[in-house]
Amino acid sequence: MYNFDEIVDRRNTESVKWDEFPGKLPMWVADMDFKAAPEILEALQRRLDHGVFGYELVPDTYYEAIAHWFRERHGWEGIGRENMVPTTGVIAAYSAAIKAMTVPGDKVMVQTPCYNAFFPAIRNNKCVQLDQPLHYENGTYSIDWEDFEKKAADARVLLLCNPHNPAGRVWTREELQRMGEICLRNNVFVISDEIHCELTYPGHDYTPWAALPEELVRGSVSCISPTKAFNIAGIQIANIFAKDPGVLRKMDRAINDNECCDVNVFGVTALQAAYNKGGAWLDELRNYLYHNARTVYCYLEDELPQLQALPLEGTYLMWLDCRALLQPGEPLEGFSERFAAHLQEQGLVLSTGTIYGAAGEGFERLNIACPRTTLLEGLKRLKQAADTYRFTKS
Ligand SMILES: Cc1ncc(COP(=O)(O)O)c(C=O)c1O
Repeated sequence: MYNFDEIVDRRNTESVKWDEFPGKLPMWVADMDFKAAPEILEALQRRLDHGVFGYELVPDTYYEAIAHWFRERHGWEGIGRENMVPTTGVIAAYSAAIKAMTVPGDKVMVQTPCYNAFFPAIRNNKCVQLDQPLHYENGTYSIDWEDFEKKAADARVLLLCNPHNPAGRVWTREELQRMGEICLRNNVFVISDEIHCELTYPGHDYTPWAALPEELVRGSVSCISPTKAFNIAGIQIANIFAKDPGVLRKMDRAINDNECCDVNVFGVTALQAAYNKGGAWLDELRNYLYHNARTVYCYLEDELPQLQALPLEGTYLMWLDCRALLQPGEPLEGFSERFAAHLQEQGLVLSTGTIYGAAGEGFERLNIACPRTTLLEGLKRLKQAADTYRFTKS
């Protein structure tokens, strides 16, 4: 019903993804090359036609749309106006939450390799980043529980990415619950960034942190937004959910202190259209992305077996293990930089693994949210970059 094969020319539209690297094929920053759902475009058009864009109250229908969506889709009960505050984006949301729950010098635990914009939020709040490296084995990431316990004993906050960018993991209920129990025992507050929650693939269901047992939810907030899944990231809208009224008051204070408590009119409209009418579009999108991921697996298997794409459980960001490109004796250190030169030569822009922390050395992040023809062109360039890398090295 929806056409995800359509090529939309995004060049010269002030797009970060396309216009920061003119003339290159960008498969880096996390937005998609698809038009938003027609249902969202229609709602925005109606709002636009009104012609007046003054400051806007956030209506009850906004909260009802969120409550209905999360109850029906994800079995998350009890979310509503009384336990949410809207804000301008998920980065603003978790930054405010860090501010609210820490004092300078507190340690904030992150599961590396992790979303790069976690790092400045920790620094800007004068906190200390505490890496809890994920365990990488047999081409997949899991939690090193011993290390998790150790770090939790030292941390004030866990900044969780559920599902995880860039590892592509959708944490299971058991994993989340175990993390929650350890955090509770160690008095670690949990900030769960759930921006990627809609983008999951068969066999990997998203569990909202807030759907865990009550005692684990009390010391937490969840940061949610439809912007990633519905490709309206530039519109910027998000919400902080807190079950505990005292925690919610702190969140409200922090978004006011940070002056990010007022949202824009188009965000309010787009969120409601997404959650009320976007379900069918989203399901087709997930199916399309799932097949894009299969395209990557097949291409790598046939054409570029040195690169391994990790199993994509969620998000549209594939994490590529490129370490088999290393020649005998070649150090891993500096690989990203050396390989980047070859990618550049082929006019392909990926996200270099090391921006997600030292654990990302030897990896690249590939954004597959584009029409399949674009994806295939990207893969061709990736192969050329890998081939010239190997050729130069041998
Ligand atoms: C895990 C994660 N959180 C937050 C964001 C950005 O959120 P926002 O644009 O709403 O600030 C991204 C964008 O890629 C992300 O991957």
